[in-house]
Amino acid sequence: MSQPTLPAQVRTAFVSGASGGLGQAFATVLLGRGVSVWGTARDATRLGTLAGRPGFHPLSLDLASTDAAAATFARADAEAGGFDVVIQNAGYGLFARFADLDETLWEEQIRSMLFTTARLSRLALRGFRSRGRGCLVHVSSLAVEFPLPFQSGYNVAKAGLSALSESLMVETRGRGIVVIDFRPGDYNTGFNLAMRGRLEPRGDEELTRAWKRIDDLLAAAPTPDRAARDLLRAIGRGRSGVVRSGSFFQARLAPMLAAIAPASWLRASLARYFDLR
Ligand SMILES: NC(=O)c1ccc[n+]([C@@H]2O[C@H](COP(=O)([O-])OP(=O)(O)OC[C@H]3O[C@@H](n4cnc5c(N)ncnc54)[C@H](OP(=O)(O)O)[C@@H]3O)[C@@H](O)[C@H]2O)c1
Repeated sequence: MSQPTLPAQVRTAFVSGASGGLGQAFATVLLGRGVSVWGTARDATRLGTLAGRPGFHPLSLDLASTDAAAATFARADAEAGGFDVVIQNAGYGLFARFADLDETLWEEQIRSMLFTTARLSRLALRGFRSRGRGCLVHVSSLAVEFPLPFQSGYNVAKAGLSALSESLMVETRGRGIVVIDFRPGDYNTGFNLAMRGRLEPRGDEELTRAWKRIDDLLAAAPTPDRAARDLLRAIGRGRSGVVRSGSFFQARLAPMLAAIAPASWLRASLARYFDLR
């Protein structure tokens, strides 16, 4: 398979959530193409394998602290002389029935993954606007089209992020700014291991079955290097849009079916897919 290339003017990038999974893969391919990368984790000492690489700048950034995250981003942007590419990748899951979940956890997830991310994107866009170019990537999810069971906060945050991307694509049209709504399907990362708010199902068989299915899907999913290749190719194309990435079934076939199938059929199929009642 041909290796995607990047335009020569891409020299600096910001990648949130670079301590593992997709973010680590994004940072790795960018570094491999000579791009300087400012990569984040809540605790920068967890950026282990990347931290020693030339051109990598570790940052501590927690999306739960909006003002501090914005200040960290602004400092890094200034140090970089303005980011050419900003990849808003950090995120996490909460697995529980909506009615049973502590609402502070639910609200914090949406505040972190949507509001803080939007705050950083606003800062990024101001820089892009003053330089007349730049590429903003929101790592959303195919969950926008196929909601994950018992992950309502996650589904809401990602749907909001995709809606923000769409708004920004319209606003920035013809101004040299690229906005990519990157929607991965399942990828084999530590995402489920990091899942928060997961209550003991205590006899809730449906929850137990859904969790097993979600876990099995992730274990059988492609590795993050595929997502990194897809994203690099999209950045290289230099065009705003939605980019789906993942297995043929999840990222190609299912969205095509969804475009023509009745919503009720789709919901029933989704329930079967996740082994729900
Ligand atoms: N894997 C999939 O199947 C899949 C599918 C669709 C979309 N996605 C999206 O892809 C992105 C990356 O997920 P992944 O699968 O690579 O998961 P992962 O391996 O768990 O990585 C998540 C990254 O986000 C960081 N992070 C988590 N909570 C954070 C917070 N509150 N503030 C700042 N950083 C935080 C983590 O850093 P620390 O924990 O070290 O702080 C880590 O670097 C997420 O937005 C996820 O929703 C993943």
